Parts: sequence; structure tokens; C-alpha cells
Amino acid sequence: MEVIRPRRLRKDNVTRELVRETRLSKSALIYPIFIKEGSGIEENIAVMDGQKRYSPDRVEHAVETVIKAGIGSVLLFGVPEHSRKDETGSEAYNENGALQQAVRKIKSSFPQINVITDVCLCEYTSHGHCGLLKGKEVDNDGTLSILAKVAVSHAQAGADMVAPSDMMDGRVQAIREALDQHHFTTLPIMSYSAKYASSFYGPFREAAGCAPSFGDRKTYQMDYHNLREAVRESELDVLEGADILMVKPALAYLDVIAKLKETFDLPLAAYSVSGEYSMIKTAAKAGMIDEAAMICETTVSFFRAGTDMLITYFAPEIAAYISEGRIG
Ligand code: PBG
Repeated sequence: MEVIRPRRLRKDNVTRELVRETRLSKSALIYPIFIKEGSGIEENIAVMDGQKRYSPDRVEHAVETVIKAGIGSVLLFGVPEHSRKDETGSEAYNENGALQQAVRKIKSSFPQINVITDVCLCEYTSHGHCGLLKGKEVDNDGTLSILAKVAVSHAQAGADMVAPSDMMDGRVQAIREALDQHHFTTLPIMSYSAKYASSFYGPFREAAGCAPSFGDRKTYQMDYHNLREAVRESELDVLEGADILMVKPALAYLDVIAKLKETFDLPLAAYSVSGEYSMIKTAAKAGMIDEAAMICETTVSFFRAGTDMLITYFAPEIAAYISEGRIG
């Protein structure tokens, strides 16, 4: 028999580009921004080389970069002053909190930008857990009404979408009900539906000052041994009213992305987290890897696995690689 030659379709760049199975679009990228309380702040984050914290009055600088890159969505995280933190994270729903101010600022200067806000308490609680404490335990049901208040405060500031990342059971329903009661019936919820307890969040916790002061997050975030549980978690979020599902982290969880894509009809997001970013940045800085090549390859793997959209600190770089035709 004659040799069968798959190599025919790899013979030159034009052909390879023609037969690509995975196509990328800048419209599928979401860029995370850290909003720090104060004014005149635009400071480098040492553990995430190239990323910054911005005070609300400076956030336009970050958004301008995003717009120039052709990216349509940002995801905002609040970084309050230490003195504002308390047992219940009440600063998280302060209508004049840094995050709420930043949302208003962005929406008034750049109404076309899709502003998504992270809904969680860990940046705002004195103990650094994502919910209220009862003794040393995280009190699931007691946390729900606070998360709902946070989501409503983001919506009132002008957020286009909210993204709960706390992993309390029942939070999507609590948030949906509160948003609806406040007439935000058309505001979507992007749920961190399959969020694993991960060492890849290390740099973020430093960046946002939200490491737990004791224990870990294993009683609420998922165990990385589990795949079926990601389906169950996502199913519950669908029933509770989630509009978009999410897998987080992304790089070590491609099987989870593929599974959720195959199982659900809802749009799916993947979050390539801080540890993934910093690993590439640090190895590149040390001259060990080709940064651009590594960004391209990992990014394509998320979309090949089936994600519809990607939250990534590399969003501006990826947008440039797409424009250059290097990927997508
Ligand atoms: C808040 C939150 C975390 C991240 C996003 N939202 C930290 C955590 O759960 O400990 C991590 C994002 C990243 O690492 O880039 N709960």
C-alpha cells in the first residue's frame, strides 16, 4: 500500500494556517486588572512581572492598553487598605469602595468596555477566607447574603457582568435572586463553577493581599483529584442560574475544560491564573524558554481543549500574536 501522507498539509505556512483546527479571536480574551484603594497609584507587582495595581483614578491607563490591543473585556479585583478589612468583609459592598469607583470610572470613560467584577470576600476579610467564619469554619449559608450584597453593589456601580469566585454552595442562586430583586435581570453571572484549590494562585494572593491567615481553602475550593465533581459543581451552577461556566486554573486542567465543553451548552471560560503567568515570565527572564512561543502554545491548548473564552494576564500579548497571524 502507498504511504499515507499527513505531512502534505504541513508543507508550508500557508497550508498549515489553512488547516488549523483551532481559531482564536481577540473578542474571546478577558484581561484581569487589580484595583488598589488610594490615588495616583500605578505600582508594579513584584511576583507578577509586568502586571500592576492601579488606583481608580489611574485605571484608565490599563484600559487604554486593553482597547489598543483590541480586547473588549476586563475582570476587576479590589485590593482594599488593610485597615478596611473586618471579620465579615463589609468593605466589599461599600458603594464608594475602590472597585466600585473603578467600575464607574471605566464605564464613564469607555462605555464600550465590558466590565466584569470578581465577587469574593477574601480580599476584604481580616482572616483572608472567602466567607464568614463560625469558629474556625467557613459559614457557607451565612456568607450568601453578603456575596449577594457585593454583587448588587457592583451592578449599581455599573458592572456589566459579575463573577463569583468564592465557591460557597448556593451563591449563584443567592446572587441571581438579589440581582433580579434590584432589577438587574439582564446582568449575566459568570460563575467560577469548577475552581480548584490550587498552588497556582500563589502570586495572586500576594498581589491582592488575600492569603488566608490560617488553614487553606480546601473545604470550599475543589480537590484536584476530581473531574466528575467539576461536572456536578457546574450542573448546580446551571440550575442556580449561571450564564457562563468557568474552569480555573487552566493549564493543569485541560481535561476539565474538555469535559465541561462536552457536557454543557453554556459558554465556557477558562482562567489561566497568576502562577501560570509567573512561571512563564520567570523562566523567560532567566533565558530558559521563549516567552512568546510558550504563550502561544499554552493559549492555543486552552481553546483546543474547548474553552470559548480565556481570562489571562497575557491578553494584550495574545491579541498581538493573533493580529500578526502567529496563532488563530
Ligand atoms: C479570590 C480569587 C483568587 C483568584 C481569583 N479570585 C484567589 C484564591 O482563590 O485564592 C486567583 C487568580 C489568579 O491566581 O490569577 N477568591
